[in-house]
Amino acid sequence: MAKLSAFNFQDWIDEHRHLLKPPVGNKQIWEDADMMAFVVGGPNQRTDYHDDPVEEFFYQLEGDMVLKIADDGEFYDVVIREGDVFFLPKHVRHSPQRPQEGSVGLVIEPKRPDGLKDAFEWYCFECGSLVHRVEVLLKSIVHDLPPLYQAFYDDDRARTCPACGALHPGKDVPDGWVSIPPQDQA
Ligand SMILES: [Fe+2]
Repeated sequence: MAKLSAFNFQDWIDEHRHLLKPPVGNKQIWEDADMMAFVVGGPNQRTDYHDDPVEEFFYQLEGDMVLKIADDGEFYDVVIREGDVFFLPKHVRHSPQRPQEGSVGLVIEPKRPDGLKDAFEWYCFECGSLVHRVEVLLKSIVHDLPPLYQAFYDDDRARTCPACGALHPGKDVPDGWVSIPPQDQA
């Protein structure tokens, strides 16, 4: 094995900053490692909630983000500010929102044990009911997710709330859904 060495994280971020914005938005630090460490940038907003079978660690490096939580019918925001760390237990439904252009955060999660599926869920913006859930054996976060999202966006039946009949907007985040309160009000 070649000799191991460290590198300066800030330099790495600066070198990859062009990837940390749309349309890519993230970069995995060690591509072949079982432990997946991503640097994720903004702006990026999404309507899906992730049901992760493994734990996630967040360290927000530049700017602030919001993690929307859906916990058994209760919806709330976790504001993760610059300098904050946050630990997300497995299976807690969460929707990362990074509305700030130029924001940068580190997210680390372990490899999924064989056969353990991720799931993605959408909740009704009118009544809070679960509208749709897709389970997937995630091999690549970059390649597996876009078709899964698009299938939901294109399927009016899947987007129709079984409880109240409202049509989920799909990709578009409703106005006012994501906001980061000023620091002194947090
Ligand atoms: Fe509904």
